[in-house]
Amino acid sequence: MNIDSQIRLLEQDDTQTALHLLVSVFGQKVNQLARGELERMFSREPFRPYFIGAFDDLRLIGVVATVQLLFTTDTFGLCWVCVHPDRQRQGLGTRLVVAAIEFTRLELLRQKPGTLLLNVSDELSGFYRRLGFARGSSMHGDGLVMSMIVNQRSDALDTITWNG
Ligand SMILES: CC(C)(COP(=O)(O)OP(=O)(O)OC[C@H]1O[C@@H](n2cnc3c(N)ncnc32)[C@H](O)[C@@H]1OP(=O)(O)O)[C@@H](O)C(=O)NCCC(=O)NCCS
Repeated sequence: MNIDSQIRLLEQDDTQTALHLLVSVFGQKVNQLARGELERMFSREPFRPYFIGAFDDLRLIGVVATVQLLFTTDTFGLCWVCVHPDRQRQGLGTRLVVAAIEFTRLELLRQKPGTLLLNVSDELSGFYRRLGFARGSSMHGDGLVMSMIVNQRSDALDTITWNG
């Protein structure tokens, strides 16, 4: 279990290493999209994504992003979930997704009720189900929609803070 890595929001200086990791995991086809999304994080756009990274010393070894979906209220998508191939199956993906959930519900939703959505392969649905996502309908293509409602009982969450 990797318990030492630091999990925090990416900074602008992390953009190139994050792009490198995303392309090495998802392939060259995502290069342009990933570059644009990483750049948008540091813009003033209202629907910009927030990328969170896991660092082992200074090395970026995992990423996740959360973004408010267009034309929705308090509904966010989790995307770009990836862990460096050498560091998979050590609990890091779980920690990153939990961090993205906490950041979204505490910092972006500010403890208001909201919905998190994922588009996921059938193979990975168990990974997200264990984290509390419910399986929804099939997507066009091969994906599944999974969702989680957060901050249902805001009174119970007052003492929790985002430490990223
Ligand atoms: C999916 C991913 C982020 C998981 O990260 P990770 O650090 O390996 O995950 P964890 O170690 O926290 O896994 C916890 C559990 O989830 C399940 N799981 C993890 N990866 C899985 C996979 N590829 N297929 C099926 N189940 C998986 C396992 O049950 C695992 O527990 P185990 O190792 O005791 O069997 C990582 O495999 C990855 O980067 N994959 C490539 C990119 C990708 O497909 N991203 C998902 C986009 S939705």
